[in-house]
Amino acid sequence: MKAAVIRNYNGEISVQDVEVERPRRGEVMLKIIATGLCHSDLSAYEGKIPVPTPFVAGHEIFGEIVDIGEGVTNFSVGDRVIMAFIKPCGKCEYCVKGQENLCENYGKNVLRGKMLDGTTRLRLRGAELNILGGGGFSEYAVIEETGLAKVPNEISDESIAVLGCAGLTGYGAVNNAMPIFGKRVMVIGVGGVGMSVIQWAKIAGAREIIAVDISDEKLKNARELGAKIINSNITSKEQVENESPDVVIEVAGTTKTEEMAVNVVKKGGKVVFVGLPNVNEAVRIYGASVVRKGITITGSYGGRPRIDLPAMMEYVKKGIFRPDLLVSKRYSLEELPRALRDLAEGRIVRGLINP
Ligand code: APR
Ligand code: ZN
Ligand code: ZN
Repeated sequence: MKAAVIRNYNGEISVQDVEVERPRRGEVMLKIIATGLCHSDLSAYEGKIPVPTPFVAGHEIFGEIVDIGEGVTNFSVGDRVIMAFIKPCGKCEYCVKGQENLCENYGKNVLRGKMLDGTTRLRLRGAELNILGGGGFSEYAVIEETGLAKVPNEISDESIAVLGCAGLTGYGAVNNAMPIFGKRVMVIGVGGVGMSVIQWAKIAGAREIIAVDISDEKLKNARELGAKIINSNITSKEQVENESPDVVIEVAGTTKTEEMAVNVVKKGGKVVFVGLPNVNEAVRIYGASVVRKGITITGSYGGRPRIDLPAMMEYVKKGIFRPDLLVSKRYSLEELPRALRDLAEGRIVRGLINP
C-alpha cells in the first residue's frame, strides 16, 4: 500500500510502497477515507515533536474497518469509524480512574512513534516504520480498538475525521473549563483546535466568546461563529488585558500566548493550557499575581475517546457541532508537502488528506 513517509525532519516526503501487517489482538485495520492534518503533524515533521524518523504521521483518521484482530468485540468489518489520537490501554491507574486521556501506556509510546504494545504494524523494506498517533497519511492503518468510535449512518461528511484530535481536544478543554454558563470565555489561537473550542464553549453556554489570533483570516472564521475578535498583533497588550475574561483557553501553543492567558484572566478566573509549545521552552508566571488574583491554571490534554467521542458524534448528528467549519481544503496523499506548507503559512485551518 501507499503511505507518505517522513524520512528526515524538514526533509522530503515520499509516497512509498509500505507493508502493513494484519491487526493483532484488540486491533483493527482501517481502509482510510480521509485524515485531517493537525499542527502536531507539522511539529513532528519539523522535529519539534521528536518522533524518531522515518515515520508516517496523521492522527485524525476516518476509515472503514476491513479486518479485525482476535478479541475485538465492539467493532466489525464494514463499520465506519473515527480514530482518537489517544489509544488508552484501559488497565493503568489513569484509565481505571476514568482519565483515559492521561493513559500511562499510551503516553510512554506515542513520542517513540509506537502503538500501545511498543511496536507498529508498518514495514519499510523489512524494517519497522514508526507512526505518529496512527499513521493516517496512508491507504490503510492498523489501530487499537480502544481509540475508535463508530460513525452513525446519518453522518457521511468526511470532515468527521477532525473529531479525532481537534474535536476531542476542544471538547476536553471545555470540559476542563466548566462551568462556562453565563461566562466570558477568551480563546487564544483560533486554528483547528481553537475553532473546535469556540463551538463547544458556545454549546456549554458561554455568554460571550472573545477570539484572539494574529491572523485576520483565522479571525474571520471565528467571527462567523459569533465571536468578538482581537488581532493581538495590532491591539495593545493593555487593550487585550482590559477584556479580563472569566475563562481563558490557550490553543496557540506558544509560551508568549500562555503568558498572555495568565495576565489577561479576571480575578478568580480559570486558565486552561491546551496548545503545546516546544518541550524545552519555559513560561514566565508571576507567583504573587497568581496568588493575589486567586486564579486557577490547568492543563488539558485531549479527551476520553470511549466516553467523549460517542457524545460528540450526537452533537454532529444534530448539526450542533460542525466539523466541516474546521476544514478549508482537500489534498491527495502526494500533496501532503503542500498541505504542510499551507498549514505552516496559515493559509488553511484543517486540510483533509484523501489517499
Ligand atoms: N498569538 C495569537 N495567535 C497565535 C500566535 C500568537 N502569538 N501564534 C500562533 N497563533 C495562532 C495561529 O495564527 C493559528 O491560527 O494559533 C493558531 C494555531 O492553529 P493551528 O496551526 O491550526 O494549530 P492547531 O492544530 O489548532 O493546534 C493548536 O494545539 O495540539 C496543539 O500542537 C498543537 O500547539 C498546537 C495547538
Ligand atoms: Zn492533533
Ligand atoms: Zn491506560
